[in-house]
Amino acid sequence: MAAIGTNGVAELLEKLVKILKEEHALDSSSDYPVAQFVHPEELKKKLPISLSDWSETNEKIEKAIRQIIQYSVKTCSPHFHNQLYAGVDKYGLAGSWLTDVLNTSQYTYEVAPVFTLIEQEVIEKSLALVGYPPLPHADGIMNPGGSVSNMYGMVLARCRMLPAVKRKGISGLPPLVCFTSEDSHYSIVKGAHWLGLGTDNVYKVKTDELGRMKPSDLKRAITKATSQGCLPFFVNATCGTTVLGAFDPLPEIAAICQQENLWLHVDACLGGTLLLSEKYRHRLRGIELSDSVAWNPHKMLGAPLQCSLFLVKGEDALYKANCAGADYLFQQDKFYDKSYDTGDKSVQCGRKVDAMKFWLMWKARGTNGLARSVDQAMSCAEYFLTRIRNIVGFRLVVPQFECCNICFWYIPPSMRGQAETQEWWAKLYAVTVKIKERMLLAGSLMIGYTPLPQRNIGNFFRMVVSCQPPPSISSMDHVIGEIEKFAIEL
Ligand SMILES: Cc1ncc(COP(=O)(O)O)c(C=O)c1O
Repeated sequence: MAAIGTNGVAELLEKLVKILKEEHALDSSSDYPVAQFVHPEELKKKLPISLSDWSETNEKIEKAIRQIIQYSVKTCSPHFHNQLYAGVDKYGLAGSWLTDVLNTSQYTYEVAPVFTLIEQEVIEKSLALVGYPPLPHADGIMNPGGSVSNMYGMVLARCRMLPAVKRKGISGLPPLVCFTSEDSHYSIVKGAHWLGLGTDNVYKVKTDELGRMKPSDLKRAITKATSQGCLPFFVNATCGTTVLGAFDPLPEIAAICQQENLWLHVDACLGGTLLLSEKYRHRLRGIELSDSVAWNPHKMLGAPLQCSLFLVKGEDALYKANCAGADYLFQQDKFYDKSYDTGDKSVQCGRKVDAMKFWLMWKARGTNGLARSVDQAMSCAEYFLTRIRNIVGFRLVVPQFECCNICFWYIPPSMRGQAETQEWWAKLYAVTVKIKERMLLAGSLMIGYTPLPQRNIGNFFRMVVSCQPPPSISSMDHVIGEIEKFAIEL
């Protein structure tokens, strides 16, 4: 067999879709395992991971591809509920392939003419969804993930309050402090570190029993920070928290931010997808009052990873905060309208074309089609919640249904009807880990578990219902049946 030259690669590319089909990489039926778990040292021995000085034959490359698929987690399985993302939308996948084949960077119109317009359209439509003014009175950019999008919010907030920081840095200033709920995503803490604020300068605001930020505690935290000589500049509110799926009360938080002259950023990375649904968009009531928003279509909606939008009110806010004016790339004497060069709005230089995936999904399905898939996922989540509420052994962590994540414990028959002492709870937390181990080794189900230390509670399951692959009553019932089965003699 000949080593791969140009012809060999072309052959392999042509064959790739066939291999993907034969290995069920894109199969969303329930006939195949969601995972084939192997411990790392053993997996190293099974796979030809090591690289060498020499070329490899097509035959061996094909075998390696098949093995990679075999041992990878099938997020397109209807039984993958482990993360806030799941199987990929197939139109999004086509967009992703197109982007990869055309391999370009999103920074200038010159090298990405079509993709520039496509990103602009996705941003324009997303601004309307949020209720922000249209371009150019608001703006947006696509980023590698929600953590980066949240960081954009922090940078722009600081830039508005202290424009000189861009040139002079933060030394000599009072400590800049920001506020986020104790249930919010850790990217705010990471952002505080990366921006030189220090993680101690993130005030964690208390949440209520459903995991929603308490506005009264936000107010208290701002007053405390100010009285200690700190400089509050940024509040992050979350729509769809990572674990409990809670929605912070935006109108009340926005009123406080306005009073205190603070930037309000909304981390809608997860819950932003509900904006597409007439039935559920009220959960983000008040989002239009914010200064900026992060939304990840790569989570619940099923756009291929990574697909994250940062949206902001105000003309030129992104450009002012991020521009560095590199002459070699953003020449000012270009013969075309250079306002279409979006690269200097970004902190990145090279930027992957993420808009294409989302645009193709949106184009093919229409806003109505996307909305239907959100409604279907939410109604399956509601069905799951209602069912487990009525089955002996299941217990909800929070009683109410807000987003696509549902948190619960499963109490095996041997532990029922007993005093719920500290030891009993410690055992339940360990049982959760054991059930998880069993489902992963069996390859029949993947759902995640987590503790919630801020509430002093240990491990429970977090079931996530995503739009892709489209969930069904039977895929919800499967989760319940498998958990009951794996816990039977624990
Ligand atoms: C609420 C929330 N915000 C932000 C993020 C970070 O997004 P990414 O993983 O794309 O960086 C997550 C991730 O799970 C999240 O749950």
